[in-house]
Amino acid sequence: MNFGGTLRINKFACFILGFILFLIIYWRSGGATVTDKSDLVNLKHLLRAGIFAAERGGKKVVSQKNGELNVQSKGKTQEGANDPVTDADFASHCAMYYSLKNTFPKLSIVSEEHTGVAGCSEQEVIDLESTPEGHAVIDYMFDELVYIKDVTVWIDPLDATQEYTEGLYQYVTTMMCVAIKGVPVIGVIHYPFTPRTYWGWYTKRTSDNIPTVTHKEENKNQPTVVVSRSHPGKVTETAKDAFGEKTTVIPAAGAGYKVMTVVNGTYDIYLHTSVIKKWDLCAGDAIIKSVDGKMTTTKGDAIDYSPNEVKVTDGVLVTRYDHDYYLNKLPKVLAP
Ligand SMILES: *[C@@H]1O[C@H](CO)[C@@H](O)[C@H](O)[C@H]1NC(C)=O
Repeated sequence: MNFGGTLRINKFACFILGFILFLIIYWRSGGATVTDKSDLVNLKHLLRAGIFAAERGGKKVVSQKNGELNVQSKGKTQEGANDPVTDADFASHCAMYYSLKNTFPKLSIVSEEHTGVAGCSEQEVIDLESTPEGHAVIDYMFDELVYIKDVTVWIDPLDATQEYTEGLYQYVTTMMCVAIKGVPVIGVIHYPFTPRTYWGWYTKRTSDNIPTVTHKEENKNQPTVVVSRSHPGKVTETAKDAFGEKTTVIPAAGAGYKVMTVVNGTYDIYLHTSVIKKWDLCAGDAIIKSVDGKMTTTKGDAIDYSPNEVKVTDGVLVTRYDHDYYLNKLPKVLAP
């Protein structure tokens, strides 16, 4: 028997084994930059939490409607319309912001409101394993982990405050949106009166209550365009100039509401030609993308939902179909 040979083979085997062990340890430690599970967040959890938060905010909006609204003005919009805020905005902000913040302490959240009411931060932590009623389809979706530092959540605790104070409740929504590195990925829009919630998870699916909409080629020559009711004059003119005399312009309120009318095929286009804030847009942007529609500025640029800038100054065009066709018809430079 040749002991030397056996020894040589064992040496070689030991070397290989050691090398493999080294590779495994090296590879594992590469992954160990994530030392803390709380550096990651599960998007499926954020979707559930978004629905719960929007619905909690919505309950505040409804319960406050007959109380003292304490309407104050945040000044005027660019078109000179009043920009009101009420105690309902603040109550919903507290419910939405702190429901999320208490559940995900490391999450960066941008809200339209800041001022709170007494006990603002005392909101119940959301149970991430339970699914909001009517949305069981989420249980069948896969978990997806992302770095929490890449996530910005945008919330609008009460969209269409002006109409809320006028009792035009059909326009009122609460919204939550998840942007990853500035890209809107999950959007939640909740209607607190006649309560219902719509959501979209880009590249995955939407809530079951969003209808299928078929493309109609003939709409291109006679599109319906939804615009803001608080300053419809100029944008109506722009729409007719751009899309032709057969264009029908419908005034409505609430960016959330208006995007949803395009998502569900009621109207072909949502056009906005003045300054607008990103908490008004983010959720709708994620939802319209989830149904293969598009939201861009009137220059055709995608909107970046990183937390540093809250304003969109180049207007907004939202369509479910034929986005580039309509975009090319818009004047290249829209006067503000
Ligand atoms: C579409 O959305 C608008 C705004 O929420 C709503 O008023 C309308 O009833 C919806 N239509 C359909 C067909 O879902």
